Amino acid sequence: MGQFSIAVIAGDGAGCEVMPEALRVVDCVAKLDYRRFDWGSEYYLRHGRMMPEDALETLEEFDAILLGAIGHPQIADHVTLNGLLLPIRRGFDQYANVRPAFLYPGVASPLANPGAIDLVVVRENTEGEYAQVGGFLHSGQPEEVAIQSGVFTRRGIERVVRYAFDLARRRDKKRRVTSITKSNAQGFSMVLWDRVFAEVAAEFPDISTESLLVDAAAMNFVRRPASFDVVVGSNLFADILSDLSAILTGSIGLAASANLNPARKHPSMFEPVHGSAPDIAGRGIVNPLAMILSASMMLDHLGLANEARAIEHAVAAVLAEGRCRTADLGGASSTREVAAAVIEKLGR
Ligand code: NAI
Ligand code: MG
Repeated sequence: MGQFSIAVIAGDGAGCEVMPEALRVVDCVAKLDYRRFDWGSEYYLRHGRMMPEDALETLEEFDAILLGAIGHPQIADHVTLNGLLLPIRRGFDQYANVRPAFLYPGVASPLANPGAIDLVVVRENTEGEYAQVGGFLHSGQPEEVAIQSGVFTRRGIERVVRYAFDLARRRDKKRRVTSITKSNAQGFSMVLWDRVFAEVAAEFPDISTESLLVDAAAMNFVRRPASFDVVVGSNLFADILSDLSAILTGSIGLAASANLNPARKHPSMFEPVHGSAPDIAGRGIVNPLAMILSASMMLDHLGLANEARAIEHAVAAVLAEGRCRTADLGGASSTREVAAAVIEKLGR
């Protein structure tokens, strides 16, 4: 019996390639029990749904969920996303989506002078622009109307903002939280966000704050990425900014994430930021490091901090050496070779 039981959903495309490599790496540092679920797009093509109706009840028993990626060229993205990813995030109230971006020594940023990038994007993960409230009127007719509402609650904003402040304190780096809105144009939801942010900030006098409109934030991510510490934003804005922070630190193939239920009432889910990468999937060249680093975030969440640090150090050592890397980082190594290099650094 392992120490913890983990639900493993490799998913589609690149997810299926990086998941076994991540498990191989985790096996070097911890003994966990895995149960694999074949949910995702292939499942959808056979059963007409991305996962079984009682999927959340099944997953509820596990200590954590590891997810590869989902997405299929023949299935609309809103079907795959709303059929698996979003129901788990919302159903398990995984309200803090934590996405670190760290520029590893030896990895080239596309910026000429990036500085020492070490930031974490904290994304509200259960409501906001992705709440799926709305509908079509006169579907398919010339007068067709689509309404998509954003849902922002005081409780929802407050808890994710508080998570961001707690994180800035725990990280103990720049001790700074940047809030992202568009409250000049979105005069209700984002104004509420600004107000709640200011209220929570008052409880953390030791943490400095900054509020940026999302367009200016995009510019400043490029202009002064090393100035950011913890960045908190809504579901949509932080989704976009975290792809940007990923590429600023070299590749989306390095970007890990955690979907956390900080109260630990339900399992949390760990997944790379990237999707199923259909343009390169199936050729054995997908970067496994985002998945491996996501698994190390899971170990951290489970209380296995030393094991998590060991994996991070091994990944950093492989990147610093620069001999073994996948094409997204300018190398020619395979998915499997990169994972093997990490395992070698772990001394196995
Ligand atoms: P994507 O993240 O799959 O790919 C974007 C680009 O980054 C592609 O050029 C891809 O080759 C590259 N890339 C991604 N992961 C990489 C890795 N590990 N190593 C090297 N290169 C990598 O995003 P895209 O193309 O917008 O979406 C593809 C599919 O994935 C869609 O069906 C989309 O809905 C889904 N998707 C799923 C996500 C998830 O499961 N959480 C997140 C994002 C997209
Ligand atoms: Mg995204």
